[in-house]
This record gives sequence, structure tokens and C-alpha cells, in this order.
Amino acid sequence: MITLGVECTAHTLSIGISKGSSILSNVIDTYSGGGEGLIPRKMADHHAAVFPVVLRESLKKAGLSMDEIDLIAFSQGPGIGAPLSVGVSGAKYLAIKYQKPIIGVNHGYAHAKISESFCKLKNPLVLYLSGGNSQILIEESGYYKVLGETLDSGIGNLFDSFGRAIKLEHAHGSAVAALAQGGNYIELPYSVKGMNLVFSGLLTAAIKASHTHSKKDVAFSLMETAFAMTAEVTERALFLTKKKSLVVCGGVAQNKRLQEMLAKMCNEDGVRFGVAPDQYNRDNGAMIAYAGWLLYKRYGSMNIKSCFSITNYRIDRMKDVFSKK
Ligand code: FE2
Repeated sequence: MITLGVECTAHTLSIGISKGSSILSNVIDTYSGGGEGLIPRKMADHHAAVFPVVLRESLKKAGLSMDEIDLIAFSQGPGIGAPLSVGVSGAKYLAIKYQKPIIGVNHGYAHAKISESFCKLKNPLVLYLSGGNSQILIEESGYYKVLGETLDSGIGNLFDSFGRAIKLEHAHGSAVAALAQGGNYIELPYSVKGMNLVFSGLLTAAIKASHTHSKKDVAFSLMETAFAMTAEVTERALFLTKKKSLVVCGGVAQNKRLQEMLAKMCNEDGVRFGVAPDQYNRDNGAMIAYAGWLLYKRYGSMNIKSCFSITNYRIDRMKDVFSKK
């Protein structure tokens, strides 16, 4: 089955095409904000402007026409209302115009599933780390449960907020990671609650420390502390669940220092560790296509009237959503 997937939850509009578990194309266009930050209305305008170009490019790379697509999948949430609605509307338009079945996909579910597939790990513990989300997930009877999560901001937003506070030109986690290279460790607050994480005190302390220490040292220490906290709660979840494999996914999973720390921890604990290539940890349409196909095989398509965005769509609400489709 050939599935076209539309991703649109935040600053990225992406359209990918899959055939079963093979990825045929994955075209990604990310709105940078042009120095004024990410304004939801402007992200939506960007997505609307590039949608036809990204669609054309994705079909071209896959060597397919719309007539050859069997299923339309779209990212249903969680996400930011304005950009999300553009992707949902675009997907619905394609489904109606070309008379294709359609299905909505939880964004975190798609990250988890494409990573499990790429890493060839069946039913691992999943660590999902992005701007807005930081969750430890376990799949039981086909549904993910949240074992632990951030109690305030996502780990990616922690780094973005720090980047903005110290006035980095591109206030993004990757810029904080670049600044952190070669830094020295200074002590910052460390806060875990069982398998949950709390980042707000760490952020406040890091911003305060940036007035008295070098920004490089603070950036390094912020990342080391946040990743150590994340590794600790993940290790606790591994011991509790007795899982023998771990997959890390989501935008922050691209961070090489985080990957190194988790790989070392897994090696010491006799746990297999997996991380997908970067393009599948970014927001991308290919993962929506692949996960849409998995969900379609299980639930069939959605009624077009059920195809709306759910900005606060938690992964552990999927059962409710599919019972009402
Ligand atoms: Fe994402």
C-alpha cells in the first residue's frame, strides 16, 4: 500500500511517501522565522505557500502520481493550532479531490514507530524527546502508555528558552549544542521525580549563571545536566519494565552527546540501543505515511468529518480517538 503523509505540527511542512515499511520520499521544508521567532500565523502562511511545491517534489522523488497513492495520512497533533490546520486542510483536500481514504496520526506515535522500524527493535522502551515533549513510553496491547514525562517544559524548549535568554542568533537546541562544545562543567540544579522530569529550576539557574560564568560553560553544563536527568529516569524505567532494548526518538534525539550517554548506559546495562537517522527524528512526512499505514491496517480509514486537528493530542489518548473515528 502506498501512503502519502503530511507533517505540519509546528515549523515544518513535510510530505513523505511510503510503500509498506519502505520510504520512497521525504521532502522537508522548515520555516526559520527569519530572526523574529516562530509566530504561529507565519508558520501557517509558510506551510500554505510551500504545500504545492513540497507535494510535487515528494511525488517526483517517489516517481508517482496522485492517482497511484492509496492512502492519505496526516499529522493530527499534538501541535500548534495554526500550522497544524494548514496540513490537515491540505490532506483533506487531497483525499476529497482524489477520492482516497484518509487517516489522522499522532505525531509522537509516528516518531516512535519509524524509529522502531529503522532500528529493527520490536517493542522497546521508547524515549521521546522533542521541543514540546519528553516522555518515556511503553507499548502494551497496541497502545502506548506514558511511564514518565516532563512536568513542565519539553527538553527541546528548555534549550530554546536558554538560547533566547542568552540572545543566541538562532535560539535553537542545535545552536546551544554548538556553543557547548569544549565547555567546562559548573554545578546546576538536578531535579527528577521518580520517572518524571522537571526543567524550570534548571533553566532559571542556567540563565542566572550566564551572568557570572562563560556562556559556553553554562550551555555545556545545562546540556550535561538535562541529559543526565533524562538518562537517570530512562534507566529507572528500563529496570522497572525489564526491557532489553531502548529507542530514542524526536528532534532532540539527533543530539550526539545525548546518543553517546544513552548508548553507554545501555551498554553497561546489557540493553540494545537504537536511534534512527536524523531525517526521521526531525519532523517529517515519511514517518506520518509509515505510521498512517500501520494504523489503517488496524482501524481502517477515518470519516472525513473526524479529520480535525487535536492540538493537545496525547499519545495515551489514541484509543479514545480511534473509538470515535
Ligand atoms: Fe517531532
